[in-house]
Amino acid sequence: MTIRTVPLTPFVGQRPGTSGLRQKVSVFRQEGYLEAFVQALFEALPEATGERIAGKTLVLGGDGRFFNEAAIQTILKLAAANGLGRMLVGRGGILSTPAASAVIRARGCFGGIILSASHNPGGPDGDFGIKYNIGNGGPAPERVTEAVYRKTRGIDGYRTLDAPPVPLDREGETALAGMAISVIDPVADYVALIERVFDFDRLRELFRGGFRLRFDAMHAVTGPYASEIFERRLGAAAGTVVNGAPKPDFGGRHPDPNPTHAHALVEAMAAPAAPDLGAASDGDGDRNMIVGRGLVVSPSDSLAILAANAGLVPWFSKGLCGVARSMPTSRAVDRVAAALGIPCYETPTGWKFFGNLLDAGRIALCGEESAGTGSDHLREKDGLWAVLFWLSIMAARRGAVADIVAEHWRRYGRNFYARHDYEALDRDRAALLIERLRGALARLPGRSFAGLAVESADDFAYTDPVDGSVTENQGCRIHFSGGSRIVYRLSGTGTEGATLRVYLERYEPDPARHLLPAEPVLAPLAEAAAEIAEIAALTGRARPSVIA
Ligand code: G1P
Ligand code: ZN
Repeated sequence: MTIRTVPLTPFVGQRPGTSGLRQKVSVFRQEGYLEAFVQALFEALPEATGERIAGKTLVLGGDGRFFNEAAIQTILKLAAANGLGRMLVGRGGILSTPAASAVIRARGCFGGIILSASHNPGGPDGDFGIKYNIGNGGPAPERVTEAVYRKTRGIDGYRTLDAPPVPLDREGETALAGMAISVIDPVADYVALIERVFDFDRLRELFRGGFRLRFDAMHAVTGPYASEIFERRLGAAAGTVVNGAPKPDFGGRHPDPNPTHAHALVEAMAAPAAPDLGAASDGDGDRNMIVGRGLVVSPSDSLAILAANAGLVPWFSKGLCGVARSMPTSRAVDRVAAALGIPCYETPTGWKFFGNLLDAGRIALCGEESAGTGSDHLREKDGLWAVLFWLSIMAARRGAVADIVAEHWRRYGRNFYARHDYEALDRDRAALLIERLRGALARLPGRSFAGLAVESADDFAYTDPVDGSVTENQGCRIHFSGGSRIVYRLSGTGTEGATLRVYLERYEPDPARHLLPAEPVLAPLAEAAAEIAEIAALTGRARPSVIA
């Protein structure tokens, strides 16, 4: 097989967003687009890591969405032509994001390439994505993503070879021009790890006692993992996993575990004979939604509740060394950390910022308001892990989800929370809004909006406590007297125009007010948010497209 270099017309790369490069499938299918990114990655890695890629082992797999397998075949050829030693590919091209992280760590690989656009819709008109994870199993840090971005801007050709497609449907060993390819069971390493994290005997007992779970895999990647864990290993009733067959277009829906896209689950959990716990995960299996009877647990609360109950999970038997949350995530977990006397770190949005803290043993548990929670068992957020954590809590506490949540609020107070998204905005207008807001921050303290007095305002910058790297412009924060907060930032994962995210939070210590609906409680903050950033005037939108 001869290796050849295919010239590319000068290519202008796109700066990778919050989690890798994400684009419409039609963009990824353009001649040379995926190839340019992958070639740039292979050329950037030696620079960014100081190590040669020749002979190294990479993990490769994705969430099974449309274009997954075609992309894998393309990447394998580029990998062989660029001198990689071995590729570990999930059978059928499948690997959930947490499972890819588990494989990289368990087998000491150099890194991994994960193909997914997470919770974005799939299919020929949907989205596709590619991200690189480093040897700790976590998302590439900015040092690496920036190096890849710089390479994509100058790249003028890629190395590949002509070869028939590599069969991926059966486990085993093959080779491509001197590069070994191992097709591996996509579930095994992950399940082996997760069995060490939780008390499976205890959970089996829970299901033997008649406990009922409904897990909605949303026709995305978690189906095979969930069936193996819940139904086969833990003995949950057949049918516990619904929509368990992965489909290239996710059955035409958004594989996004939230009340809008997982409304069937929310309805099932509101029905008279609802199961004890409802849960769902997203396209690539790293997000989670936790639903009780008639109640969706907010991800920020879920993170705090997991932290408060970590002692119930064998993996955390020595206690938590520290926790972290992304900046816009509600500060409910901060209260738990304070009660436990452990540090709580605030990081920019995106899982990659947790990696150093986890590696350095400064934190054991972390999460984001966007339905991601995880721990030091991996370097990715992990949807099924969160469900197993909740099952562990319920096995020990024997109460309903609503009781566990209400009791948590009684002890720590409630952080009312909502995220307002303004989607598909004109990019320039959205950028202008943020720019003007940044310019106005210094003038806000002392002023009042909707009856709320501003105490302080800043543009969040983060200095990584482990390596000292600085990340700026991570969102405008406005703090009000009484502890309320508004955060504004632009999404780094959208593929259509710009998305403005506005995060509202209000702390309420009084248990008599904990069961109020969030919307009226947060209404003054929503009003203040619109006024401060002149959202209507600058975006032409009177209200958000999505409230989460
Ligand atoms: C969103 C979430 C963020 C998460 C990311 C990847 O990014 O807000 O918490 O890490 O997806 O799942 P955003 O679109 O806000 O940049
Ligand atoms: Zn995801």
